[in-house]
Amino acid sequence: MTARELRQKYLDFFKEKGHAIIPSASVVPENDPTTLFITAGMHPLVPYLMGEKHPDGDKLADVQKCIRTVDIDEVGDNRHLTFFEMLGNWSLGDYFKKDAISWSFEFLTNKKWLGLDPKRIYVTVFAGDKKAGAGKDEESVGYWKAEFKKLGIDAGVCELNQKAEKKSRIFMLGMEDNFWGPAGETGPCGPCSEMFYDTRPEEGELQGTHEELVKSFRLMEIWNDVFMEFNKKKDGTYEKMARQNVDTGMGLERTVTVLSGTPTVFETDLFLPILQKIEEISGKKYDESEETKRAMRIIADHIKASVFIIADGMEPSNVQRGYVLRRLIRRAIRQGHILGINNNFTAEITKIVQEMYGDVYPEVDNNKILEVLNGEEEKFRKTLENGLKEFDKLQNFIAQEYQKNSELNYITGGELAFKLYQTYGFPLEMFFEELDSRQIIYIKNKVEESFNKELEKHQELSRTASAGMFKGGLADTLEKTTQLHTTAHLMLAGLRKVLGSHIHQKGSNINGERLRFDFSHPEKMTDEQKKAVEDFVNGAIKSNADVILEEMTVDEAKSSGAEGEFEHKYGDKVKVYTIGQYSKEICGGPHVKNTSEIKGIFKIKKEESSSAGVRRIKATVN
Ligand code: ALA
Repeated sequence: MTARELRQKYLDFFKEKGHAIIPSASVVPENDPTTLFITAGMHPLVPYLMGEKHPDGDKLADVQKCIRTVDIDEVGDNRHLTFFEMLGNWSLGDYFKKDAISWSFEFLTNKKWLGLDPKRIYVTVFAGDKKAGAGKDEESVGYWKAEFKKLGIDAGVCELNQKAEKKSRIFMLGMEDNFWGPAGETGPCGPCSEMFYDTRPEEGELQGTHEELVKSFRLMEIWNDVFMEFNKKKDGTYEKMARQNVDTGMGLERTVTVLSGTPTVFETDLFLPILQKIEEISGKKYDESEETKRAMRIIADHIKASVFIIADGMEPSNVQRGYVLRRLIRRAIRQGHILGINNNFTAEITKIVQEMYGDVYPEVDNNKILEVLNGEEEKFRKTLENGLKEFDKLQNFIAQEYQKNSELNYITGGELAFKLYQTYGFPLEMFFEELDSRQIIYIKNKVEESFNKELEKHQELSRTASAGMFKGGLADTLEKTTQLHTTAHLMLAGLRKVLGSHIHQKGSNINGERLRFDFSHPEKMTDEQKKAVEDFVNGAIKSNADVILEEMTVDEAKSSGAEGEFEHKYGDKVKVYTIGQYSKEICGGPHVKNTSEIKGIFKIKKEESSSAGVRRIKATVN
């Protein structure tokens, strides 16, 4: 089965079960400074899981593109990826454990759907945890037993930390494994039940604990049903939510691998065309050696992830999301170098990614992505060149040092390597290569250690900035940013009034302290214009205007004169927020109920160019 077929079957199945199909959200979280990228299907749905009404109803399903970079250094082995897609179905206070489990099982095993052998399916259930105030999930155990029984399988329970026995099919696991979330430090979370597939049934009965079976890759997780019944609060306690939700996530890449029976995801249609292209460009074969395999996997994954990040509006830079993107691209180019590719090649790979994904995610079909990647590649190659020149200049110094001690002093070595890295972006591995080619002896791990010390010192800044993003937690930050979010609508209306109706939003980013807003406009704003927009927004805030939410179709929204990014993919129904007589805009929310909840005076702190034809405002309400 191809990835395309799996996506379609999944959506068709849940549509049959009464779910509305919603489009994937951007991989860059909207108005959410707490995380760098969307890392799970539930992430864009947090406001709805917290109680906000979703315009498409209480049962939703989608395929969400995700970026996870925590394991970036593991990419290159046979399973880690930074870009992946998550199939998900949600109940917002509708069905709970019984239906979730029964539908998961039906979709996996029924011949009409995936038709997987039920004997190769094993599940986990939450064993309970005192601290979370949650007991053993006996209910789910009962539902699973009933499901297996329908297919003639007597499913035994393997208790926490015990070894599998003959009939073991339901494994009880604790907080660490079977309690999901929250996405930030606070927010919706709950016990979960995971489904695993037996990749090597020929080995006979399962041997060992569940953990051992997962570590040896005999059992591969494919789907996770989360029963969200708690909200984790700032003080670390869990409170029962008024409503019980279901959040599920099925890994598209893993499931396609299972369905196609290939050893890894790299032999499936999600990677083959890219790997073939890399083989063609490099003249090397994928399975020539472990090194070529690793390099090609990294290039394929990283360029794919970069294409999706750029498609959602990011560009490489030295901070936060832009920095992650830059790292992905540069790591890919570096691996290209290992394969002997020394000319620009990322654009050629990008074209393949566009062919593979363009009809599912039309946003990747954009020539700008080629430009951005080419530009970054040029820059990086220049960087490498300059780094090499600098290395040559340092050569005498290095040689002297070397002669003195008959080995390169590692502290000096690490500092030099860091200087080249810091000034030119010259990678550490290349520093070693240059030393090797000059036959300078050094102790690799010592130089690395010293390099890392320097790196840590300098990265503190960007680290703290990124770490800060995770601090608040989704739920809390939502509260703080809601005021600024409503203010952003008022500002857009003010800009349109003062500068003209050619003004449209081109992106925004809000955190607890300020709002940043990009909009289409060809020239710098005058001080008078800025003042007029400020007066408009402050007038609206002071007028105690009600914020009214209505749901309608996209066409109705358009003809009602609502402002919106119509090139954007919306679901069947959209939410339209009207703020008094000031503003009417399509938006997912959330917003304040009345402008009087916006506390303070609105001020434009900065107005500058963002890119051609786009201006950027930074503003506060204090
Ligand atoms: N949110 C759950 C996960 O990502 C489904 O595993």
